[in-house]
Amino acid sequence: MSVLTEKHWLVVGAGNIGRILIERLLHAGVTADRLSVCDADESRVRTLAATYHLTVINPEQLSGCHADVWLIATPPGAVKGVLSGLRETLRAGQVMISFAAGVPLSWLESLVPSGVTVVRVMPNAPSLVGQGLNPVAYGAEVTAEARALVGELLAALGETIEVSDEQMNWCVGLSGAAMRSLLPVLEGMTQAGREAGLSERDARRVAAQVMLGTAKLALETDLSWEQLKALTPMQTVDEAAIAGLFVEAARGARAKVDALQRKLAEIGPAG
Ligand SMILES: NC(=O)c1ccc[n+]([C@@H]2O[C@H](COP(=O)([O-])OP(=O)(O)OC[C@H]3O[C@@H](n4cnc5c(N)ncnc54)[C@H](OP(=O)(O)O)[C@@H]3O)[C@@H](O)[C@H]2O)c1
Repeated sequence: MSVLTEKHWLVVGAGNIGRILIERLLHAGVTADRLSVCDADESRVRTLAATYHLTVINPEQLSGCHADVWLIATPPGAVKGVLSGLRETLRAGQVMISFAAGVPLSWLESLVPSGVTVVRVMPNAPSLVGQGLNPVAYGAEVTAEARALVGELLAALGETIEVSDEQMNWCVGLSGAAMRSLLPVLEGMTQAGREAGLSERDARRVAAQVMLGTAKLALETDLSWEQLKALTPMQTVDEAAIAGLFVEAARGARAKVDALQRKLAEIGPAG
């Protein structure tokens, strides 16, 4: 039996990521009576809760919630406010996982009582279909049991890689927001398919399968980049320029999160 199904879960922040977490937990077999959800937007949370038969917790009632695992998926600027109100609520043995960009582990740890396991995950939208790549960094007080639990949660979302907290801002460009760099490639390939006379559906299928197949070649062989390119001799784009564009995109995303983190530091992690 999955350890996920034995726990009570609370999702705080029911936007893009919160909704993905709820759907994947339900898909993994967690029953709706073990899932609660809280969001600042009352009508949004009520609609979501009605769809999945979840319990709604109002933001002001959070301190009365005794979930085993707290999934914090609010905007980064709201994390401090949420956790500050929970000092008297969270207990040793509970697990708190933050999905917020730019909020370091040390800040999270300073906001919760000792003994609470703190984990940081950089979410990735393809998790909606169980194909995400969600990097994880563990806090100092992580137990083997909590690691196993988080491992199962991340497996329900797709793949993972353990990184240091310092690498997390890079992870926004490497995985968290990387889909936004890749989607224009798919859009352009689909547009070309339409020009060739394919239906939108077929053009999109061709583009997406070619990207998926290329990714699988990279994942499932140990061919070098040059060997992979040699499998298709016709060069169609300025490859060095495109590679450079993606490096710049990742650097740019990191710079944005560094700036966000500096801004959050001005209000202080626990001040
Ligand atoms: N989406 C991604 O692909 C992605 C990638 C990497 C990292 N992340 C991180 O994941 C987190 C969630 O992202 P998202 O895209 O899901 O954002 P989102 O769609 O804006 O969802 C955040 C939700 O949290 C609610 N909220 C705000 N303050 C709250 C509070 N104090 N208590 C309870 N709920 C509150 C928001 O309500 P209102 O709209 O009413 O404010 C909103 O419904 C962010 O911290 C982001 O940095 C997301």
